[in-house]
Amino acid sequence: MLNKKTLHDINVKGKKVLVRVDFNVPLKDGEVADDTRIVAALPTINYLLDEGAALILTSHLGRPKGEAKPEFSLAPVAEYLAGLVSVPVKFATDCLGDVAQAAAASLNAGEILLLENTRYHAGEKKNDPAMAKELAAMADVFVNDAFGTAHRAHASNVGVAGELTAVAGFLLEKELKYLGDSIANAESPFVAILGGAKVSDKIGVITNLLDKTDKILIGGGMANTFFKAQGYEMAESLVEADAIDTARELLKNAGDKLQIPVDMVIADDFAEQAQSKVVPVGDVPTGWRILDVGPATVAAYASTLESAKTVVWNGPMGVFEFPEFAKGTFGVAKAVAAADAVSIIGGGDSVSAIKKSGLDEQVSHISTGGGASLEMLEGKVLPGLAALAEK
Ligand code: 3PG
Repeated sequence: MLNKKTLHDINVKGKKVLVRVDFNVPLKDGEVADDTRIVAALPTINYLLDEGAALILTSHLGRPKGEAKPEFSLAPVAEYLAGLVSVPVKFATDCLGDVAQAAAASLNAGEILLLENTRYHAGEKKNDPAMAKELAAMADVFVNDAFGTAHRAHASNVGVAGELTAVAGFLLEKELKYLGDSIANAESPFVAILGGAKVSDKIGVITNLLDKTDKILIGGGMANTFFKAQGYEMAESLVEADAIDTARELLKNAGDKLQIPVDMVIADDFAEQAQSKVVPVGDVPTGWRILDVGPATVAAYASTLESAKTVVWNGPMGVFEFPEFAKGTFGVAKAVAAADAVSIIGGGDSVSAIKKSGLDEQVSHISTGGGASLEMLEGKVLPGLAALAEK
């Protein structure tokens, strides 16, 4: 795990522990709409409770731009968390100032305090040293368990790590085991599946994984840009004009390592009820657009995945929000789940897809990070991780 200290390396008994979690969860009508990130932080939280630590949790939620906007309050998350743990969850309406300091000072062993959104203060995103010092002053040690935020260098994850003994929590450790170690030391055949709308979002990942993988399977809207680079007419399909040259370059450099779709599902409208049909590459009539990979592509990808020993998947194969155009994504999900491999799902949309397909229990790891997992796959050093103590 990249030689960083973890919770196992320090003694937290009776200590006040500042824990940066990523509780940036979707809210709907003021309630938690997806608790994945909260549940993922429970191993660290419960361990610290069992060890008799006093827990001060911090997180951001959304992008309130340095102002206290009520729609970005973590109060609903405090309430939700209280339903998952064995002790009450106290809530401080500010992460800084008298309110936070008084709440932290009176916190006892075995208690949890959640501080209000760190991004209510402009100092958070600026990694302001004064903000970091003030957060650190409330605790004895710092645990970073916010993998989803590890690609940001902010006061509550990076600044604060310079002020206290700073170690990785169990979620961060697990994410690094898969997105770091399992990929760095991948057992071959190593297959990456990359989808989503834009090639430009994935250039860094493709470039980094090209040397490490045996195959890269391409799907989603980004495949269209590769077809365009090969000279095919794409009609109304989404094509990223600025990325055509890059796509051509990648095709040239990657040789047969890059596997692109052989057929596709096209639609006469971008709509759930659109008329659809399966066509081979190059056969998109005027007025139609590609919304999914076709069955021959799914079969070809499944056959590549059958022998894989390591699989990483980021980005859906099509517009899986519409059932008619979800077959490619779900077909690939099935093949990933069936493979006798270490399988890692990274990134927001592919995570929703694997959950929607009901196969989430059959993969090795589902990342809680969107941008963070993408940056790991690009081979970048994440500042939130770099700031932690070396073993
Ligand atoms: C995420 O959801 O990717 C993280 O919580 C980071 O949020 P951000 O993109 O607003 O920095």
